[in-house]
Parts: sequence; C-alpha cells; structure tokens
Amino acid sequence: MIRIRSCAGMDEMEACVDLQIETWGYDENDVIPRKTFLLAQKIGGQVLGAFETGSEGASERGSKEVHETLVGFAMSLPGLKSTPNGPKPYIHSHMLAVRPSHRNRGLGAQLKWEQRREALSRGIRHMEWTFDPLEIKNAFLNIHRLGAVAGEYRVNFYGVSSSRLQGGLPTDRLLAEWELDSPRVEALLARRPAAVRIIEERILVPASIERWKASEATRERAFDVQLENRQKFQQAFSRGLVVVGFSLDAEGNGVYELGLLS
Ligand SMILES: CC(C)(COP(=O)(O)OP(=O)(O)OC[C@H]1O[C@@H](n2cnc3c(N)ncnc32)[C@H](O)[C@@H]1OP(=O)(O)O)[C@@H](O)C(=O)NCCC(=O)NCCS
Repeated sequence: MIRIRSCAGMDEMEACVDLQIETWGYDENDVIPRKTFLLAQKIGGQVLGAFETGSEGASERGSKEVHETLVGFAMSLPGLKSTPNGPKPYIHSHMLAVRPSHRNRGLGAQLKWEQRREALSRGIRHMEWTFDPLEIKNAFLNIHRLGAVAGEYRVNFYGVSSSRLQGGLPTDRLLAEWELDSPRVEALLARRPAAVRIIEERILVPASIERWKASEATRERAFDVQLENRQKFQQAFSRGLVVVGFSLDAEGNGVYELGLLS
C-alpha cells in the first residue's frame, strides 16, 4: 500500500536525499542536502513523500510493526511574486522523483495533486516548476495530465549539471505554470475532458531523444534538436503563444501544442 504524506524528521529528509542521488546521480556540487529539505518545509514549502507500507514481523510485545519505505518525493519552496496588487505567494516545486521500480503507476501525478491540495489549503493558488522540454514523459505529465501551461523558455538555466538525465546538454528549461483552481486543472483532476483550445503551432520532440542523449556517439543529434526547438519556442512565445497541450503521435514523438490563452 502507498501513502502520500508530509515527511517528518531528519531520517525521512535523508531518505529524500538518497532518492535524489539515485534519481539524478548528482555530485556534491548539485545535491540538495537534508538540512535544506528540512528548511524548505519549515519556511512554507513542501516535502511530501510517497511511502510504501508493509508489515515487518512482530514486535517484542507481539504487535505487528509497520515498516515504511520512501518510494517517491516532491520538494518545493515558497515564493513571492510582485504584482500590481502587491506581493503574491506561490509555490515553486523544485524536485519530483519516483523510484524506477514504482514508476508509471500514477505516483508522480498523485504527489503533484497532493502538492496542489496542500497549497490550496493554505490559500496558495499558483505553483510553478521548470522542466527539460526534451523529456517527453515529463511534458506529458505536466501539460497533458496536470494541465500546466508554459510560456517561458530559460536557456541553460542551471548552467552545467552533473545530472545523468541531462546527458551533458545545456540545462534549457520550460517554466510550467499551474493555476491550481482553474477550470482546466479541476477538470483534469476529476478526469473530465478539459475545454478544447485552438492550436496555432506544434513543436515536435523525436521519440529517440532519450537514446540520443544517453550516448556520446549520438549526443550531437539531441543537441541539434535542442537548438532548433529552443528557437521555435522562443519565437512562438515572443508572438504571445503558450504551450497549452501535449500529445504523443503514432510513432511516440512528443508534440507540444501552442495556442493563445483565452
Ligand atoms: C517524472 C516522474 C516523477 C514521474 O513519475 P511516475 O510515477 O512515473 O508518473 P505517473 O505514473 O504519475 O505519470 C506518468 C505518465 O507518463 C506516461 N509515460 C510513461 N512513459 C512515457 C513516455 N516515454 N512518454 C510519454 N508518456 C509516458 C505514463 O503512462 C503516465 O501517464 P498515464 O497516467 O496516462 O498512464 C518519474 O518518471 C521520475 O522520477 N523521473 C526522473 C526524475 C524526473 O525527471 N523528475 C521530474 C523533473 S523534476
């Protein structure tokens, strides 16, 4: 059984750090330490864990002991935006990870929905995070499943990264913006179809991109796609278009769908 809840105490923060290293392979320059996880939670951010529960034999008193193992986490920081009406609080979600053995069972989405529920319970209505636009699965989850939109492209946002998922490419990122109580997000949460939007432009990510990134011999091809798509996104965003949808074509290529936000 999996339970999603706030992490508590240094041991659970440590388990998040271990899963972070297992997921991204960060070196000591990039890894976020457990003290920062603890702090994030204390200052209005979130450290949520997905815990697998299983009973582990009997205790000395004869009662069954329940053992919990962290199989996923979401970590976020509080943010403040300047608006004409004064500062507006929001949540910046910095990390989401699920153990490879537990992926594609809906846990990533459940962690995000719990982040949303928790933020709304404190009156926070906006969440954002960055993601690599070349990661087809992440785009599918962020845009198609969760209903985030993206209208900002950040070139080489984190500089050089030791993340093994980055494959040595510049850390280009799209900014996912999640309006937590928008009709679109509420429809997706309830698994109802969201309103259809007019698509003005499509930007494609080849299905082979992950393979190309992973090998020295083909990395150049992935880099070419990154450069070409970077230009396409920047041009589209400068015309006021926004990523409003994401789909997979019959070959498994990822297709960003851009249109105007009504
Ligand atoms: C991103 C991540 C957290 C998602 O966790 P998860 O538990 O597998 O996510 P979910 O199962 O909730 O949703 C994934 C969706 O993508 C789909 N998917 C899986 N592989 C896919 C692929 N290659 N292309 C497109 N979609 C894919 C799944 O079918 C699922 O959709 P569904 O609900 O319609 O079935 C996990 O893959 C991970 O830890 N990745 C490494 C770290 C990372 O990239 N983190 C995010 C950026 S910070």
